[in-house]
Amino acid sequence: MATQTEATHTQTPIYFNLTKPQYQELKQEIDGAIARVMEENIFILHREVEAFEREFASYTGTARCVAVGSGTEAIHLALHGLGVGEGDEVLTVSHTAVATTVAISATGATPVFVDVEPRTFTMDASQLEQRLTPRTKAIVPVHLYGHPVAMELLLDLARRRGLLVVEDAAQAHGAEYCGKKVGTLGNAAAFSFYPTKNLGAYGDGGAIVTDDITLADRLAMLRNYGWETGKRYYSLLKGVNSRLDELQAAILRVKLRHLDEGNQRRRQLAALYGELLEGVPGVVLPVEEEWGHHVYHLYVIRADRRDELQARLRERQIGTQVHYPEPVHRQAAYLAMGYGVGSLPETERACGEIVSLPFYPELPHADARRVAAEIRRFYGV
Ligand SMILES: Cc1ncc(COP(=O)(O)O)c(C=O)c1O
Repeated sequence: MATQTEATHTQTPIYFNLTKPQYQELKQEIDGAIARVMEENIFILHREVEAFEREFASYTGTARCVAVGSGTEAIHLALHGLGVGEGDEVLTVSHTAVATTVAISATGATPVFVDVEPRTFTMDASQLEQRLTPRTKAIVPVHLYGHPVAMELLLDLARRRGLLVVEDAAQAHGAEYCGKKVGTLGNAAAFSFYPTKNLGAYGDGGAIVTDDITLADRLAMLRNYGWETGKRYYSLLKGVNSRLDELQAAILRVKLRHLDEGNQRRRQLAALYGELLEGVPGVVLPVEEEWGHHVYHLYVIRADRRDELQARLRERQIGTQVHYPEPVHRQAAYLAMGYGVGSLPETERACGEIVSLPFYPELPHADARRVAAEIRRFYGV
């Protein structure tokens, strides 16, 4: 007879993330949308993109949406479109996808990092003031893991000092701060439609939303070689090529209709993990501030002996990841910025303690129970 350990070893894998179950659920609608584009046979900046832009603006409660090639490009173009560039400084966090920094650097501006607050892992706005210089032009708060940034202090500072605010909402489609959807809180907001995002395409994609009509018009030109809208081969601005394509737009229109339901499932799954892992010594669960509607792009815990825990789960065929294992300021490409070890203590502490558990809307609750049981066993409870 197999021992209990052997039996566990032969269990089916639990993947960290899967996109196929959603496709299987929405197959008919998605295949229909793809077929519609193939019938139309126009692939760039046509009906699907226009319709998606209207629908996503309406979903976020903003006047306009401009769809672009990726979330990174959405941040870059939003900042560039607002006039951020060479010689400017942009306040952001180091505890984020490196894409946030890549996008700021692409404008020619210098990213300046502030630490995160340890409960939600998002920008600690109380530290912004001490990083201000006469060159500070903008703030890019990141609504990380699906939890909104505490925006009050940040927005107050931006108002007092005339700073621009571009939200990085790449991980937070549908999240809310004080009852307001993220994407409506600053001058503009950037979303990513990377396949595993809460709203994910089947390839790269991104969008900027804003209430600033002049900015939106400018962005619509910038993403398309700077061509004047409706007039080909005539560049009014120095632009780039960063367009969402018709196929991705058609797919995203289907998925947008199911976004709230997907977020609801994420919240149910988070509640289940919370219930099952409550009180485990050595584990700190994600928090949800009363002013924030968390959409759990990721379910991230702090864990004692994190690396050992990950190894144990791996042995038990359970996939986990770390978001992110090395803060941006400690990565080779950014060492020359001069942030020494210990310069952003909460950011550095987080990287050593966090682990993201298997998480996607269709994750069977039985799998979440197995993950939680393995974690409890690891900590001996
Ligand atoms: C917080 C954050 N910002 C920006 C991005 C960039 O998005 P993309 O991968 O679509 O360029 C991502 C996604 O990777 C992200 O998670």
